[in-house]
Amino acid sequence: MKALVWMGKKKVEVQRVEDPKILRPRDCIVKITSTAICGSDIHLYDGVIPTMESGDILGHEFMGEVVEIGSAVKKIRVGDRVVVPFTISCGQCTHCHRQQFSLCDNTNPNWHVAETLMGYSPAGIFGYSHMTGGYAGGQAEYARVPHADVGLLKIENDLPDEKLLFLSDIFPTGYMAAENCDIVPGQSVVAVWGCGPVGQFAIRSAFLLGAAKVIAIDAVPERRALAEAAGAIAIESGDDVMEDLKALTGGRGPDASIDAVGMEAHGSVYDEVKQTLKLETDRPYALRQAMRCTRKAGTLSVPGVYGGFLDKIPFGAAMNKGLTFKMGQTHMQKYMPQLLKVVEDGKIDLSEIITHRIPLSQADEAYPMFVEKRDNCIKVVLNPAA
Ligand SMILES: NC(=O)c1ccc[n+]([C@@H]2O[C@H](COP(=O)([O-])OP(=O)(O)OC[C@H]3O[C@@H](n4cnc5c(N)ncnc54)[C@H](O)[C@@H]3O)[C@@H](O)[C@H]2O)c1
Ligand SMILES: [Zn+2]
Ligand SMILES: [Zn+2]
Repeated sequence: MKALVWMGKKKVEVQRVEDPKILRPRDCIVKITSTAICGSDIHLYDGVIPTMESGDILGHEFMGEVVEIGSAVKKIRVGDRVVVPFTISCGQCTHCHRQQFSLCDNTNPNWHVAETLMGYSPAGIFGYSHMTGGYAGGQAEYARVPHADVGLLKIENDLPDEKLLFLSDIFPTGYMAAENCDIVPGQSVVAVWGCGPVGQFAIRSAFLLGAAKVIAIDAVPERRALAEAAGAIAIESGDDVMEDLKALTGGRGPDASIDAVGMEAHGSVYDEVKQTLKLETDRPYALRQAMRCTRKAGTLSVPGVYGGFLDKIPFGAAMNKGLTFKMGQTHMQKYMPQLLKVVEDGKIDLSEIITHRIPLSQADEAYPMFVEKRDNCIKVVLNPAA
């Protein structure tokens, strides 16, 4: 089959690789009809996430049709149309029982690598380095999906792929980020750093949950415009953000902040130099700002991905202002069914962030365009059949 593989820092290729096979009784094979490039893939492309190996298939946002099932699969049938969550969860461990699906104890075969870095291992993730399992990803024609009965969201409507695909990651991610803000309907002011796809769905979810005001922050004009189209007040990122936020919140600061930027924030020469020299793993410029700007007793929600050890974090500000921190990879299977209903009820149109539709065979060209935000690119959907 065709697949997009990682060949080193800033090097991806579309290659012919072996088709996936059922390896365990709870596996299924999905023939992929649509797949996307995520902001998280930028961290792999840029080589800032460790334990990638040349030849790894990328991609963790995909949907399609089930073409084969293992002997222990009960709920999913061949022919089902499904959306695949990016996290892999067993459904049986303590964390899965608590609906903390991205913290599953049983799906990372390389748990010892993650434990060395983090103390305990999170769940396995498709196409996201060997530290989270080394699973082949979904920027391909086919993928093996472990724990098919736990993971897959069955689609029984006839909406097109474009209106469903982002249930695989970024809509639940934006929603969990907003839910973590403990929004008081009609009252809360939420500031969102980053108007990429995750930021866009965090903004829309904050409004779905009743936020009175959402302030969106980004340097890229077309991304700010898309945030404004959802009802947010958009401001330019930079060193003046604190003054702008005070002016928009009567001097108090936002009740909650969302860092939808993550480990590769722009705007700080200090971080760019240190990351290049490998003196720090992450560039936490947006996170530092969010910690300073959030009001006293406020909440900071972090969907943005961080990889390692962060420099010059103003923990004194967080402690003395009594901030609450909430974060994590998204507990996908908890949110997918309820958010499918939100989509079916027409409360959100997931396709409105798509700027580029490209054949999978040209995915190697789509990566640099997406990473460098060329041609006003915000979100790329790849078609394996084209
Ligand atoms: N927690 C999860 O489960 C989960 C799931 C998906 C993505 N993510 C992470 O969420 C983050 C965003 O993903 P995305 O797909 O929207 O990526 P993206 O790269 O398209 O968007 C990031 C946005 O942040 C903006 N930005 C950069 N520096 C900034 C700054 N200093 N201030 C304000 N804005 C700034 C960029 O201009 C860009 O628009 C990434 O770190 C990604 O890895 C997490
Ligand atoms: Zn993603
Ligand atoms: Zn589990």
